[in-house]
Amino acid sequence: MNTLLQTAIVAAQKAGNVLKQGFGTKFSITSKSQIHDLVTEYDHKSEAIIIETLKSAFPKHQILTEESGYHASDGDITWIIDPLDGTVNFAHGIPFFCVSIAAVNSDGIVCGVIYAPMTNELFTAEIQKGAFLNGQKCTVTHQQSLLNGFLVTGFPYSVKENPQHCIEHFSHFIGMGLPIRRLGSAALDLAYVAAGRFDGFWEVALQPWDMAAGTLLVREAGGIVIDYAGKELNILNASSIIAGNADIAQALHHEIISLNSVIENR
Ligand code: IPD
Ligand code: CA
Ligand code: CA
Repeated sequence: MNTLLQTAIVAAQKAGNVLKQGFGTKFSITSKSQIHDLVTEYDHKSEAIIIETLKSAFPKHQILTEESGYHASDGDITWIIDPLDGTVNFAHGIPFFCVSIAAVNSDGIVCGVIYAPMTNELFTAEIQKGAFLNGQKCTVTHQQSLLNGFLVTGFPYSVKENPQHCIEHFSHFIGMGLPIRRLGSAALDLAYVAAGRFDGFWEVALQPWDMAAGTLLVREAGGIVIDYAGKELNILNASSIIAGNADIAQALHHEIISLNSVIENR
């Protein structure tokens, strides 16, 4: 295991333990872009520990985090961090959230860690070295038929504006009779796809920190991660994501594209 991944694991576990200690206690909660887009004092505490851990190991690396933005430097590695993915769950006492950390260079994502402290599940991946859950290799499912698929999705805080027809997409898939979960943490949704718990995932309007570690996990678990144009997802310039084993991800893409053309030609 290389030192990037080792350090990311240390940072994720330290931050995850702080989140676990704070979970269920009284803490400050404020809104960001709108009333349901929350940030708690633990988002900030988690972020500070991660930055401190990464900066002390790699002072020249750049950092992009959800709460404090871009920390410029001149290194060739950028860390992409969601210090608490699933803030709304955390704020409402629902124990489904995680820390997500990925290292990216000019070739793409080189390692990723997602840590869910309440279940003590550590998902890790290094480029071309596979994906692991608590040290055990994981792989995406082999489900070939979308009609037999088990899916997970999410909605942006701006859902009532229906960006990219996301409401119609959801109603189409639920109308096909598919079992679909909305668990509230895009990073963990992706980790669960990598671990073979879900066959596929789709969502619009995500940010790099929601997707970076999870994208590498799914790819290293043998799956594909694409955008709504059907191209390999570039986490830095795409926001809509489809992930899963290749059959399910392509079937999801096909349905979304067909649906968009019906909606846009109405
Ligand atoms: C959110 C979660 C959620 C997704 C939202 C994200 P946050 O991130 O990943 O599952 O549906 O689009 O913004 O705010 O908990 O870090
Ligand atoms: Ca997030
Ligand atoms: Ca977050």
